[in-house]
Amino acid sequence: MSQIGRFDTDTAALQARNAAHARYSTGDMTGWALELLGAGPGDRVLELGAGTGQQTLRLAPHVRSILAVDAAQASLDVIAAGAPGNVRTLCGRFDDLVDRPCDERFERVLACYALYYADDQERLIDRIHELLVPGGVLFFCGPSRRNNRELRELHHGLLGEPVPGATPAQAFMEDDAPRWCEARFATVERHEFTDEMRFDSADALVGYWSSYNLYDPALETRFRAAAEAHFAQHDVFVSAKRVVGIRAVKAA
Ligand SMILES: C[S@@+](CC[C@H](N)C(=O)[O-])C[C@H]1O[C@@H](n2cnc3c(N)ncnc32)[C@H](O)[C@@H]1O
Repeated sequence: MSQIGRFDTDTAALQARNAAHARYSTGDMTGWALELLGAGPGDRVLELGAGTGQQTLRLAPHVRSILAVDAAQASLDVIAAGAPGNVRTLCGRFDDLVDRPCDERFERVLACYALYYADDQERLIDRIHELLVPGGVLFFCGPSRRNNRELRELHHGLLGEPVPGATPAQAFMEDDAPRWCEARFATVERHEFTDEMRFDSADALVGYWSSYNLYDPALETRFRAAAEAHFAQHDVFVSAKRVVGIRAVKAA
């Protein structure tokens, strides 16, 4: 089991976090990811870590088919309840699926905030490369090193410690995954998206923090006091989701 965060496969926590993000977001991260995926009407898409369908449900009307994979059946049930007929779901862990025979091939593979949950991440990238048709595209995204820097500074400042270096997910996105892709794909591009989240009250800031994987109940009283001190002097607290996207194209 990977140790990336408490949202590994928890459907309710994922829904709470996605709702909190949607409430305070000022950008369209899903639109950015889907544009870079560049899938068209004839494309078969494999989506890894589809969750409750944040990307799937928006993409489905524009492609031939989507196979949405996730370890959480409860999340896939949310997709199945809202998806059109060209979406299929498959429940399984990435590390169990890599060695499973699969006759299907895909024009596009999409994975938003998910690939780093695999135990053997490099093997997973290998398997994705095999499953793509020649000229096919893998697009995946996840946190950059500076993701939510402002919120993390507030949180770690309360603990009297510096913001730690790269988290495992950040190291995967910034260092390991680009290197592994470059060894296999014909072209690899790095993209970035910044989505400012604007909080206008201590309640809003505490609410967002408590939906986030930094949340620590033992710190809640102090976090709220710090948030109230901030809003006594300012109208807004801004933290930014900073996301890296890797677009890798298989040789034709
Ligand atoms: C952060 S969520 C992202 C979900 C969705 N892409 C989104 O943006 O809302 C990560 C997803 O990966 C799934 N997941 C975590 N570990 C997994 C694993 N080892 N194998 C397959 N799916 C996994 C979780 O169940 C969760 O739905």
